[in-house]
Amino acid sequence: MTETAAPRKRLLIRTWGCQMNVYDSARMADVLAPLGYAPTEAVEEADMVILNTCHIREKATEKVFSDLGRLRDAKRSRGGDMVIAVAGCVAQAEGAEITARAPWVDIVLGPQSYHRLPEMVARASRAAGAVIETDFPAEDKFDHLPETTAPQGVTAFLTVQEGCDKFCSFCVVPYTRGSEYSRPVAAVVAEAERLVALGAREVTLLGQNVNAWHGEGPDGHAWTLGRLARRLAEIPRLARIRYTTSHPRDMDDDLVAAHGDTPALMPFLHLPVQSGSDRILKAMNRGHTADDYRRLVDRLRAARPDLALSTDIIAGHPGESDADHAATLALIRDIGFAQSFSFKYSARPGTPAATMAGPVGEAVKDARLAEIQALLRDQQAEFNRSRTGMVADVLVTGPGRHPGQMAGRTPWLNPVHFAGPMELAGQVVPVTITAGHPNSLSGVLPTSVLATTRERPAA
Ligand code: 5AD
Ligand code: SF4
Repeated sequence: MTETAAPRKRLLIRTWGCQMNVYDSARMADVLAPLGYAPTEAVEEADMVILNTCHIREKATEKVFSDLGRLRDAKRSRGGDMVIAVAGCVAQAEGAEITARAPWVDIVLGPQSYHRLPEMVARASRAAGAVIETDFPAEDKFDHLPETTAPQGVTAFLTVQEGCDKFCSFCVVPYTRGSEYSRPVAAVVAEAERLVALGAREVTLLGQNVNAWHGEGPDGHAWTLGRLARRLAEIPRLARIRYTTSHPRDMDDDLVAAHGDTPALMPFLHLPVQSGSDRILKAMNRGHTADDYRRLVDRLRAARPDLALSTDIIAGHPGESDADHAATLALIRDIGFAQSFSFKYSARPGTPAATMAGPVGEAVKDARLAEIQALLRDQQAEFNRSRTGMVADVLVTGPGRHPGQMAGRTPWLNPVHFAGPMELAGQVVPVTITAGHPNSLSGVLPTSVLATTRERPAA
């Protein structure tokens, strides 16, 4: 008997924004796979295109509309035979605006509605206008998403927390992703085990406010993220655990302690500070001072002395003076960041900062951002240089760009390139770092590792 497979259709997903969108895109592909959708990179052969969008800054939002313009032409050249969906935070925030500006869009769906995609695709084929789903539905989408079955890379993402109740003055996330929700321990552990069975050796726990996670444990009580990390560290073959993005206010004692007592928890932490000025931190509604942040970093480094930090900085929040900007530079100098992301403040409609007094002019914002970025770039280069001569444990992720070359990541997330055999992929091997470049490291395998791999018989 021959099985009749679902008709083969092609799906193109374009992803902007944070790692949570990367995770969501993968889950949307999982949801659509049973309908016969297989991935493609070529827009001409796509039966369906999903733009998974980011609303965090104006630039990211505008890119969506220019991409939609190009997709109209692509749809026309296929005689209209293309389902176009806009997902993610722009969809959530600007549903009606999207269908008004781009009536060729068939589906608009917010981040909490991905499990409804198959039903929406069916409805779109019958509907005259666009199908829009941007409520925060009461049911939990995680309970309705299918389990991942796709083979995983060596590193995988796992969303454990969504939403944000912090309401920083400048940020749209609380409005687009809704209030904080934590997945229960059992669901997270089961997904981590599945990811490892599918090939992952490193799992990064994701959440807009990941350290606010307080999922229900099997005992009926809420667990801390530190306790979750310890539980995940028990999974055989799960070599590395990371989490992102954290808020300084939610860095509790147990999580700080976990950095000291859980070797699988990697010594690298993305901890956005946004500004080094107490006045601006207050205007931002961050709920901590610059010295609170310094003290927190001291506690973290006491627990895990080799901890490296990365951060987010905003230049030119309304009301920011030269003195406030100088305080930000001082904080950056005090901490010493290994990596960073810095942005010009971008007014987002509906957020409190958008109507605050004292907007900072573009030229001043540009100058401050340039100064901040020069300092952060120097710190990153210095951190990378300081790895030279170390023997670092490197998780080998796959082949490098050149023949005979492999690529991997240090515990501090630096990309590393070194000469080595393919069979090292997925292993953690010691690599002697020979040079630190601005964005990556070069290394060599110690002869002992090379000798072991040579001795192993071919598979
Ligand atoms: N303007 C500039 N940067 C912003 N971010 C969030 N909202 C804005 C905004 N309106 C930055 C913050 C946050 C990161 C993800 O994006 O630094 O941590
Ligand atoms: Fe946005 Fe602040 Fe929430 Fe982070 S903590 S998602 S910056 S509101």
